[in-house]
Amino acid sequence: MDVNGRQFKKFLERKNSLSQYQNEFAEKKQHAKGKLSARERIELLFDPDTFNEIDGFSRTAAADTKFGKMVDAYGDGVIIGHGKILGRTAFVYSQDFTVMGGSLGSVHADKIMKIQDMAMKMGAPMIGIIDSGGARIQEGVASLAGYAGIFKRNVQSSGVIPQISVIMGPAAGGAVYSPSITDYVFMTNGTSYMFVTGPNVVKEVLNEDVSFDDLGGANVHMKKSGVAQFVYEDEENTLLGVKKLLSYIPSNNLENPPIVESIDRNIGIEEKLRDIVPDDTNKPYDVKDVIRLIMDKESFFEVAENYAQNVVVGFARLMGKTIGILANQPKVLAGVLDINSSIKGARFIRFCDCFNIPILTLEDVPGFLPGIDQEHSGIIRHGAKLLYAYADATVPKITVILRKSYGGAYCVMNSKNLGGDFNFAWPTAEIAVMGPEGAVSILYRKELIESDDPAKLKKELAVKYRDEIANPYVADEKGYIDEVIDPAETRRKLIFTFEALENKHISSPSRKHGNIPL
Ligand code: HXC
Repeated sequence: MDVNGRQFKKFLERKNSLSQYQNEFAEKKQHAKGKLSARERIELLFDPDTFNEIDGFSRTAAADTKFGKMVDAYGDGVIIGHGKILGRTAFVYSQDFTVMGGSLGSVHADKIMKIQDMAMKMGAPMIGIIDSGGARIQEGVASLAGYAGIFKRNVQSSGVIPQISVIMGPAAGGAVYSPSITDYVFMTNGTSYMFVTGPNVVKEVLNEDVSFDDLGGANVHMKKSGVAQFVYEDEENTLLGVKKLLSYIPSNNLENPPIVESIDRNIGIEEKLRDIVPDDTNKPYDVKDVIRLIMDKESFFEVAENYAQNVVVGFARLMGKTIGILANQPKVLAGVLDINSSIKGARFIRFCDCFNIPILTLEDVPGFLPGIDQEHSGIIRHGAKLLYAYADATVPKITVILRKSYGGAYCVMNSKNLGGDFNFAWPTAEIAVMGPEGAVSILYRKELIESDDPAKLKKELAVKYRDEIANPYVADEKGYIDEVIDPAETRRKLIFTFEALENKHISSPSRKHGNIPL
């Protein structure tokens, strides 16, 4: 084709008009709100010069209603395409708030569905950058139908390719449900918010005053609702967070996670681990110190850091290979399992199992949280989620009991009979139906009532109970623990044991799907 010819000129004119509208105009409007444009976000997310846009010239559907104004915009308010992130293919859609508030009309929805189908077909992560007022009001039912099509694809892709949602502005109405089906939700503090109905509707219906941030800001969803797992202070760092997450996980359910060249080749003894668990069994410590000493240096990437902090979940590497970690946190509520921590843990275990990520459980849990509030809010059915997720997971699973392992919590936390492949205990482990004080009070009730010095007797009996029952050796002798190990050799043990599990294969009975207690 002649580069000076009419056809080529027209091609260039179209391309320039597109970039002028989408770049200059959009950037100005977004920057004024402290946000980046849809295209700038893509540029930050993908490796330089690797992004390929498709359907950039698609046009807004002609309105079949006379109500409301419609902008006839190229692209219809969303950019879709594919490129490389850290050298691996990923697919993206990025909504443009400057086109009718990033609202979702039929063409906009068709584009998102198209890229979702491609990601699924190609077995690559699907990333949605959301900045949207929800269903486009002018397009009526076509917008709602569009959302339904996106949700269906989210569900079909679940467990096949990683799906990540990045909220970088409003996610209102229909815009919230796709993220909540996807594996992880990222938000930027101060400029993003998510709600099904906004402050105006809350005021109208309930006569309550609430700000955008207090109703559905990043902190609310990180700390209270658990909807968002990652929050960063600006958009640039949010996108860096997405890249970091991708570095731990495979592109699809048929691949293994990427292996990085381990900078930490140490497989020796870590003596500091011997001193972490305090002698006083009721004294807290930070389980993240244990994680850092066991895993490759600087490799721990925590998920949902500020939600249900009595359980810690996240990814780390062992000799460069990704491991999913679930650990009770004695520093928060003594590491007890309650409703929120059970749900947080269960969701994480499910993700690891979908994507071939071996699971390490570090256990120090006094039991499930008692109380009217927990019972009435359904600790039974929510606690069952964690139990179900562990029992159902077929990836390699190792447990190390650091200290407390009492009652139902013993069973739930990947115990041997639930399907733990290797179960280790530190000498500080206390494994029993219940803690010494509770057990002694039940078994020796009469003796304690009749005693002249019940406090002294209780103390003596508790020591005896610990010596005879609540220790790791009884479980070791019965095979419920495979080995009591020196804490200092934990890293070494885990490296060799996860290696031994690399070819683990379990075939499950044929069924449509299990019925997890949702
Ligand atoms: C069409 C929309 C829109 C929408 C915003 N706009 N939302 N157009 N459909 N859903 C347009 C505005 O008219 C405006 O156009 C431009 O986008 C920017 O919006 P502003 O309101 O000026 O911006 P801002 O003050 O930043 O407020 C953003 C907002 C607000 C909080 C998102 O626009 C808002 O409350 N929108 C409606 C949100 C909502 O209720 N969505 C639910 C839809 S129902 P101009 O021309 O003035 O620039 C739904 C159900 C689906 O989604 C259910 C599926 C399960």
